[in-house]
Amino acid sequence: MRDWRQAWQAALYSPDGFFARGERPSAHFRTSPLVGPELAQALLELLSRVDFALGRPGSLDFVDVGAGGGELSAAVHDLAPPALRRRLCVTAVEFAPPAVPTGVRVRRDLPEQVVGLLVGHEWLDSIPCQVVEVHSGQTSAMHVDDHGTESLGPPVTGPALEWLHRWWPLAERAEVGLPRDEAWADAVGRVRAGAALAVDYGHLRSRRPRFGTLTGYLGGRQVPPIPDGSRDLTAHVAMDSCAAAAGGGVITSQATALAALGISASAPASGLAATDPLRWLDEAARAGRIAELTDPMGLGGFHWLLHGSMLP
Ligand SMILES: C[S@@+](CC[C@H](N)C(=O)[O-])C[C@H]1O[C@@H](n2cnc3c(N)ncnc32)[C@H](O)[C@@H]1O
Repeated sequence: MRDWRQAWQAALYSPDGFFARGERPSAHFRTSPLVGPELAQALLELLSRVDFALGRPGSLDFVDVGAGGGELSAAVHDLAPPALRRRLCVTAVEFAPPAVPTGVRVRRDLPEQVVGLLVGHEWLDSIPCQVVEVHSGQTSAMHVDDHGTESLGPPVTGPALEWLHRWWPLAERAEVGLPRDEAWADAVGRVRAGAALAVDYGHLRSRRPRFGTLTGYLGGRQVPPIPDGSRDLTAHVAMDSCAAAAGGGVITSQATALAALGISASAPASGLAATDPLRWLDEAARAGRIAELTDPMGLGGFHWLLHGSMLP
């Protein structure tokens, strides 16, 4: 039996852990960078606003933290307008370095300094947390064995208990978001000039789930959270506590953010199918992808937490 945070950490990041051995999100679940080029297009628009605000520096960073298969880094690099690409330094930060196009740097740890845009796309949800339960008014850490069987551990005290009182007071079961707060504050602190953006599924204090959200993903299906290294383990992110830990920020939905960055779906013009069927197909496919990215019950409901004021 181990504390859930230790078991979760080992299951994902020990040398033969799920992500450490190179499992890619694309084989197990769908994220926005896998839908198509539209997320990268939106982030390039955000990056161009950052660039303008910084006075077009000689070198501009795009840092993709927790890059997974590197799809977002690759798309940002490939789709950047030539004039920007000459000054653009795209870095994929990933424990298990992905294969990426020439021109994209890969590293295992975060750079010391960022001038430009740092993005954590579905990064924070992959940071392990302590899991707690409340019984008879007492908050205890949950322990778990390699088969996923849980037992009640010692009472929670100190910073974890303070975090729960401040950020998740009415839970019967919860994930303590402190490690995510610390990771995000550290990442944002590395941005010397520019902006930082976290995109993730999450919740806010006004609407926390009562029973936590820890779960597993494997081969495209949601599965029980067994910490044996066979599957991804994840839980929604307390976005407002991450924001506060990093000194503020603005939280909005992905649907709203994409619209603000010029990504909106419109059906192809009527009659186009007859005059230019290939263009009609292209436009219809793009509209379908944008509908997926902005669906409020799906990816469109993801939270965007932005530090820096580049959205209108
Ligand atoms: C849920 S996946 C998201 C992948 C990708 N960003 C996407 O949205 O498709 C999270 C990734 O973050 C990586 N990761 C987690 N913490 C990390 C860290 N501190 N440094 C580098 N990579 C990390 C994991 O190895 C995993 O590949």
